[in-house]
Amino acid sequence: MNPQKIETAMKGILLAGGSGTRLHPMTLATSKQLLPVYDKPMIYYPLSTLMLAGIRDIMIISTPDDLPQFRRLLGDGTQYGVRFTYRVQPSPDGIAQAFLIAEDWLQGAACALALGDNLIFADHLSVLLQAAARRDVGATVFAYQVQDPERYGVVSFDADGRARDLVEKPAQPTSRWAVTGLYFYDSRVSAFARAIRPSARGELEITDLNRIYLEEGSLQVEKLGRGCAWLDAGVPDALMQAGMFVQTIQSRQGMLVGSPAEVAFRMGFIDAAQLRAIAQTVHKTELGRLLRDLADGR
Ligand code: DAU
Repeated sequence: MNPQKIETAMKGILLAGGSGTRLHPMTLATSKQLLPVYDKPMIYYPLSTLMLAGIRDIMIISTPDDLPQFRRLLGDGTQYGVRFTYRVQPSPDGIAQAFLIAEDWLQGAACALALGDNLIFADHLSVLLQAAARRDVGATVFAYQVQDPERYGVVSFDADGRARDLVEKPAQPTSRWAVTGLYFYDSRVSAFARAIRPSARGELEITDLNRIYLEEGSLQVEKLGRGCAWLDAGVPDALMQAGMFVQTIQSRQGMLVGSPAEVAFRMGFIDAAQLRAIAQTVHKTELGRLLRDLADGR
């Protein structure tokens, strides 16, 4: 049986540029976001997250060198029942620049942004994501407690649990809550991105964009709890941990993590025959077997 279709008019951006210098030499000849996380290219994970939110119109942004490889991997999206559009970011001038690059394509639509190296795994994640996609006004970000908040955008909360402050890579973090690389914005996002000026490191910072919403009182910060895993695979240890995490869940539970084909089927974007066709393209793998079982209702 084909599940009921769940979709939103919100658009999505997958940002997969940058030079991946913290993963050299692995990223000297290829994009970081194409490196394997266990049995899939890294970009499959944030792509699955956007699709789980119900998003079917997705722009992939990467470097001039790497963009053709993403196109080769993902095509036009028909196989997943979605639409992919591709755009170049000529140089890595900041995450928030994505909304300037995509402005004419967005045409005033609300938009979610997923960083191509972020992997989120949580029970009931789809409920959180679909709620964020339904908000008409304001922005939603997700916070996760980490040991090393100084590596991230950090959010602190007041006594009532309301977000008070947002700082990018603070030398002295005032909380352990990192802001993950998944952001939901209303239709004003490109206009707000235009107002941002480059930071001291010369980038249009996503944290500055989020601060505009925070100051307006329209930033919703969802805390991701204990039962949730957030990994950014930007350094060798994190890449290894992410791969082992996916391997553990998949082999123990026989459930897929980060499969756009599975999500497309569960969201009702494709039917069982289309899922079987994707499974056939990877028929020699365990991934192929799991997708086939899903298509057959096993
Ligand atoms: O991972 C979450 C963190 O991502 C947030 O907590 C931070 O607030 C946010 O600034 C960002 O921090 P990073 O130090 O991880 O950002 P990084 O420069 O590594 O970029 C994240 C991803 O976005 C990376 O895969 C490369 C891509 N990127 C980055 C920039 C600056 C681009 O495609 N273009 C860019 O211009």
